[in-house]
Amino acid sequence: MTADIGEAALNRLRELEYDVEVYPLVEPPPKALILRKVSGGIDALLTTLRDSIDAEVLSAGAGTLKVVAQCAVGFDNIDRAAANQHRIPFTNTPDVLTEATAEFALFLLGAVSRKLYSSEKMVEENRWESWHPHYPILGDEVTGKIVAVIGAGRIGKAFAKKCIGLDMDILLCGKDPDSDFAANLNQEMRLRYGCAFSRSLHTAAYVSFEAALAVADYVSLHVPLIMPGAGTDGTYRLMNDTAFKLMKRTAYLINTSRGPVVDEAALLSALLEDRIAGAALDVFETEPLPPTSPLRDPRLKDRLRVFHHFASGTKETRLSADPHIGMAGRAVQGLIDVIEGHYDADPRKMPFVVNKEAWN
Ligand code: GLV
Repeated sequence: MTADIGEAALNRLRELEYDVEVYPLVEPPPKALILRKVSGGIDALLTTLRDSIDAEVLSAGAGTLKVVAQCAVGFDNIDRAAANQHRIPFTNTPDVLTEATAEFALFLLGAVSRKLYSSEKMVEENRWESWHPHYPILGDEVTGKIVAVIGAGRIGKAFAKKCIGLDMDILLCGKDPDSDFAANLNQEMRLRYGCAFSRSLHTAAYVSFEAALAVADYVSLHVPLIMPGAGTDGTYRLMNDTAFKLMKRTAYLINTSRGPVVDEAALLSALLEDRIAGAALDVFETEPLPPTSPLRDPRLKDRLRVFHHFASGTKETRLSADPHIGMAGRAVQGLIDVIEGHYDADPRKMPFVVNKEAWN
């Protein structure tokens, strides 16, 4: 285990008499250590998104390493082609972090738009002079605004459903439009309007990326990171200068997907030149965010809020040993499925194996 995923999940393996070794530090283990362990013949490697499981690591495990169990839904740190070449199944932890991540995205949206940080800071620093209609700050109201959901997969859809509660118009962007989902959102919106829960009738629709950026008050990213050359729909620096120029001056960007989906230099220019209103970021090109990162610009504190890749960070989601609730439980279950030969020992039938194609 390249990280401690919590006693409850580790105990599931110990009860099955697995010999479990956990890297004890908070920092990720050095690559050389991972290589040494994998070459030393371990059966399974449990990883997090901080570990680079590249061709070198996977070839070191050829013939001995039976599974890489990733404790995350994203797996851009794992070289899929190399895993396939050596027929090493790797698993991930979808679904169990969907709601936690979606609600966090919505909270970031609210926090940056309503200036929660600036308000708290003012109180904390004893700068709250009096109640005043507009001095010293005002926020932007979220209710009734337009939100663009970029990447309408599991998390994007969960986020969209939560936005209905704020009577937002929802623009969905995704490569496989799910018309039933859009129809169901509209049905719920009609119901809300019909019983006067919302003051006007809101709508949801699939639109192009460009069309969404042009009108949205909030742009929330929910795409996986797909590097250039790794797929037809690359998402590396999807939010670049051209994309920021399409956004309204009053709009906000929310990123709970992967850092490299945003061109940070382009974002910085857009903020400094007042071409967008603000941004809240949970993920970065380099994590942890370096002390010298230009994103720490003190001039932007009220408008650019930054978090520590924390969207899935609830006790339930991170630590539960129940594979239907927690990432730890699901990662361990993925590992057990492969090692114990569940599902007729066929990786294609195992629900958490990602690279099923290697057995086709
Ligand atoms: C978190 O970012 C994850 O991919 O699980």
